[in-house]
Amino acid sequence: MKKIIFSGIQPTGLLTIGNYIGALSQWKELQKKYFCIYCIADLHSLTIYQKKEILNKNILDILAIFLACGIDPENNILFVQSHVPQHVQLNWILNCFTNFGEIKRMTQFKQKMSFHKNINIGLFNYPILMAADILLYRTNKVPVGKDQIQHIELTRNIAYRFNHIYGNIFTIPKKILNHNNGSCIMSLTNPQKKMSKSDSNKNSIINLFDNDDIVKQKIKNAITDSDNPPSIKYDLKNKPGISNLLAILANMTNCSIEQLEQNFKNKNYNNLKESTINHLCLFLNKLRKKYFFYRKDEKYLKYIMMNGSKRAKKHANIILNKVYNIIGLI
Ligand code: TRP
Repeated sequence: MKKIIFSGIQPTGLLTIGNYIGALSQWKELQKKYFCIYCIADLHSLTIYQKKEILNKNILDILAIFLACGIDPENNILFVQSHVPQHVQLNWILNCFTNFGEIKRMTQFKQKMSFHKNINIGLFNYPILMAADILLYRTNKVPVGKDQIQHIELTRNIAYRFNHIYGNIFTIPKKILNHNNGSCIMSLTNPQKKMSKSDSNKNSIINLFDNDDIVKQKIKNAITDSDNPPSIKYDLKNKPGISNLLAILANMTNCSIEQLEQNFKNKNYNNLKESTINHLCLFLNKLRKKYFFYRKDEKYLKYIMMNGSKRAKKHANIILNKVYNIIGLI
């Protein structure tokens, strides 16, 4: 039997090239070896207020992007989290097996708390809902970026704790780090910071809908360094800007970083930028064509969501029933 992969992405805002390289391109590869369950985590996105029409639209947009990226909804499961109520049901049970102390330590929560004034309990509960997502499907592996590692550790701890009392109910999941050892694609204007779709400075991010002119302008202005002579080397600590461009180009061309370093020996930063621009534009144009093809067919998108949730529910119910029975609910 194939091992099971589970991952999720929130339907908030336009996806960036960072989301593609960090998550979607890897999700596509993983389909070859694993049974993949991919979730649009709309309930997670409610932890920050979402306008109704925008949320509606974002869910369909993301689904069309999944398809455009080559994720196959027939051999895998693609579904929307809120369509499978078992996630919330298991979430409650897991709340009762999570210590206040361990959840309080989550760094993402602490960070979010520092820049939102009115913090809600959903944001606090967020990693436990994520644990429910993962544990409902006997997940073996979870592809994530570095920022989610702590949430996977928490999921494992909750599962161990539960299993310790009730026997082997949950499969203990492992993380798979994204390409590049989990390093994210970084902001173009501040390569010490992750490229984030919610960045207010749009010059920091390439989103999947940026046209050729915009891509050109943003990459041209991307921060590099003033090394003299210029050296095109992957060195996250001393050359974060150049490393970031190399990481983007490596993914767009399927070349290794070492190969690119070799190709760009004795070249200047402008050469690296030109090449990155060309490959990015080529890639984005192709992706967008596919995206619009799927996006205009809402009937098909709705069929996929319905079919996905039906199949997800079947799997989720098996675990949820086991849990209900073993803890004594009738
Ligand atoms: N919290 C994840 C993020 O924002 C999205 C997510 C929700 C997820 N449920 C998940 C990721 C389960 C992995 C597994 O990136």
